Amino acid sequence: MLDKTKVIYQIYPKSFKDTNHDGIGDIQGIINKLPYLAELGIDMIWLNPIFPSPQNDNGYDISDYCALDPVFGTMSDFEEMIRVGSQYQIEFMFDMVLNHVSIEHVWFKKALAGDQYYQDFFILRDQPTDWLSKFGGSAWSQFGNTNRYYLHLYDQTQADLNWRNENVRNALFDVVNFWMAKGIRGFRFDVINVIGKDEILKNNSVNEGKAEYTDKPITHEYLKMMNQASFGKNPEIITVGEMSSTTIENCILYTAPDRQELSMVFNFHHLKVDYAEGKKWTIQAFDFQALKELFHSWGEAMSENDGWNALFWNNHDQPRALNRFVDIQNYRVKGATMLATSIHLSRGTPYIYMGEEIGMVDPAFDSIEDYVDVESINAYQMLLAEGKSKTQAFEIIKAKSRDNARTPMQWEDSEYAGFSDVKPWLMVADNYSTINVEKGKTGEIFEYYQTLIHLRKIYPIIQEGTYHAFAKDSSEIYGFERQLGQQKLLVLNHFFAKEVEIELPEAYQGGKILISNYPTEIQAKLILKPYQSIAILVE
Ligand code: NOJ
Repeated sequence: MLDKTKVIYQIYPKSFKDTNHDGIGDIQGIINKLPYLAELGIDMIWLNPIFPSPQNDNGYDISDYCALDPVFGTMSDFEEMIRVGSQYQIEFMFDMVLNHVSIEHVWFKKALAGDQYYQDFFILRDQPTDWLSKFGGSAWSQFGNTNRYYLHLYDQTQADLNWRNENVRNALFDVVNFWMAKGIRGFRFDVINVIGKDEILKNNSVNEGKAEYTDKPITHEYLKMMNQASFGKNPEIITVGEMSSTTIENCILYTAPDRQELSMVFNFHHLKVDYAEGKKWTIQAFDFQALKELFHSWGEAMSENDGWNALFWNNHDQPRALNRFVDIQNYRVKGATMLATSIHLSRGTPYIYMGEEIGMVDPAFDSIEDYVDVESINAYQMLLAEGKSKTQAFEIIKAKSRDNARTPMQWEDSEYAGFSDVKPWLMVADNYSTINVEKGKTGEIFEYYQTLIHLRKIYPIIQEGTYHAFAKDSSEIYGFERQLGQQKLLVLNHFFAKEVEIELPEAYQGGKILISNYPTEIQAKLILKPYQSIAILVE
């Protein structure tokens, strides 16, 4: 049974804390900061991949699943991290990238050298389909100097694995068992809803070919098999599937406990409400109606059908939510606490991305040279090829690049923000002297997160309550109700920089305020301040 009191914190290891003076974060840096995370109150840490990798896609191109990249530390550092973590009741979630491996992985190398057994580990065809890679260009590249092509839904250095082959599945299940035996208690499965590919692959020029490999029924079978062969053996293990372009129906199937697939899912629809015509590399203000409707439809359908969501605003693939949804010039702090309330009191498991708890925002890089992410660099070239000027293309990268979230964690107001004592692999954001942990720890945002985490631990209604849309027609407020037995909790989140009035249903007028980011009293006609959140409980 999933423990619904838990809150998970995501660390991007490369950018968290460097202790060995190479400008790259490491395991000792994580150990060093465990007391800080314990103070915040989180239960589990999700680490982006720290396995050996040529780092073409920052570790999502794995060349050895059962070792650690020396740049992050040794196996004994890892063991120390697990041990010290347990002293603080903090467990660890590893990032399993099981859809693809780096072309530097021995499996791909042996396949290239002509070994038939390993060629069957990959998706090789004489005739490529017309699918596009998610990082731009064709999804197929020539397999060595043969007449065949291998599939790569991501970068050409990330070759898709052939899950139809039982030997591949067993090898991957062994990897999960290996890390469980080493003390890992959570797994995040990268793009796990694209692992199921048909035997015969068809051309499909609609939507880059996504329908041909996304959420295929066979994927549910593979997840059941993995569950039985690995993490399902320990009911305390937490799993989360990253679901690319998915549907509510599939996410219910992935997470309903009786199906024995996964504990929860990440979906990204709510983070596409600022895409013009559904395209990422565009600039547009967010569509509040669309955001609210998505939260409501997912919240209600998952609640009615026993599904379970991972709740998040930020991760290493997204520009900071504060820049997207809040007037940060005037309301960074209130906006940060409002966004936090809107997910931490909702139904699902909340995730905090490093720096969110102090209100970190995007850096103001001023040159394309400052970006290192492969997807951003490809996108810049693509935008130029489409006819955008260098200035226009740069503005889009600046707003949308994944590097926005990957800048070093801002610990203090000293050179390199206390992340490292040498030049970091990616520039520190210019705002580090005002936004940093040293200042933030006694600040409003950090303390507010502490309270939200604590409330989840003590109120079963936050953990278990059903989800119902509230104030569906409001054009400023995202509201929802949770219910457990006779108890009801109303959560109102005001997404704009002005005051707004809302009529409070009678039932809540005698309720108690669990939390608000402004001093407030309950009134029949409630006036919400800019970016105000309020949660009212009636027993
Ligand atoms: C999703 C990961 O979050 C992202 O960072 C990565 O580039 C792709 N999957 C490919 O592994």
